[in-house]
Amino acid sequence: MTDAAYLLVHDDREYLLEPGEEFGTDLGVIEVPEDVEHGDTVETHLGTVFEVRALRGPDLFDHLERTGAPMMPRDIGLVMGHTGVAAGDRVLDAGTGSGILSTYLARAGASVTTYEIDPDFADVARRNMETAGVAADVDVRTGDIVEALDQLTDAEPFDLLTLDTGDAADVVARAPDLLVPGGFLAVYSPFVEGTRDVVLAAREAGLADVEALETISREMDFSDRGSRPATAGVGHTGYLVFARVP
Ligand SMILES: C[S@@+](CC[C@H](N)C(=O)[O-])C[C@H]1O[C@@H](n2cnc3c(N)ncnc32)[C@H](O)[C@@H]1O
Repeated sequence: MTDAAYLLVHDDREYLLEPGEEFGTDLGVIEVPEDVEHGDTVETHLGTVFEVRALRGPDLFDHLERTGAPMMPRDIGLVMGHTGVAAGDRVLDAGTGSGILSTYLARAGASVTTYEIDPDFADVARRNMETAGVAADVDVRTGDIVEALDQLTDAEPFDLLTLDTGDAADVVARAPDLLVPGGFLAVYSPFVEGTRDVVLAAREAGLADVEALETISREMDFSDRGSRPATAGVGHTGYLVFARVP
């Protein structure tokens, strides 16, 4: 991982900028030095001081270019926790989308091969990998993962298969040929119908420890009046199915 971009922060302002970039704001023009580093400060031409911070996963979720709905950090956390993905692991992922999940996995030290069927989305994802500093660790392939399955099952097996596509069940059916023994499958589906298809495909494929979870997290409000779950905010995101090769 290399620091390809930084977060420049002043009060509640946050800009994701690259070394050498010039960016106009109502607080003045920011010129980011080529040799900028985490912890530096950069002054606009009007004298406002911005603090330079290294990018963290949630910053990528907030600031990378989006082509569709990226996986939420809370769901990514469950994927990472349930599969134990670690440095050196080989991950097969689809669809890439904005590439948020791929950036998290690569930043944890995994080497990721990810398929995106839409060529324009794949281009955006490649740019996002550059910005996130993980372009060397994420191979964004333009194409339909289902069509690539024969080629993929002939290649070296993967440690983890992550899927976030409507046709995930078709890939799950081939998971035993794609993964090492003990390797994990993690599938994100926004709807219960897709989740059911994936569970049935995982059982049919002979995968072990098949479990489906609805992910719910509630933010808490603490005020002088009392403490309770927030009445607004993100509710349902999706379902996650985990399974592993016996
Ligand atoms: C919800 S997005 C994935 C978001 C991604 N997990 C992230 O964290 O940014 C789903 C993506 O899958 C792509 N897709 C759908 N079916 C596909 C397939 N069979 N092969 C490859 N990509 C596919 C879509 O074009 C879309 O960009």
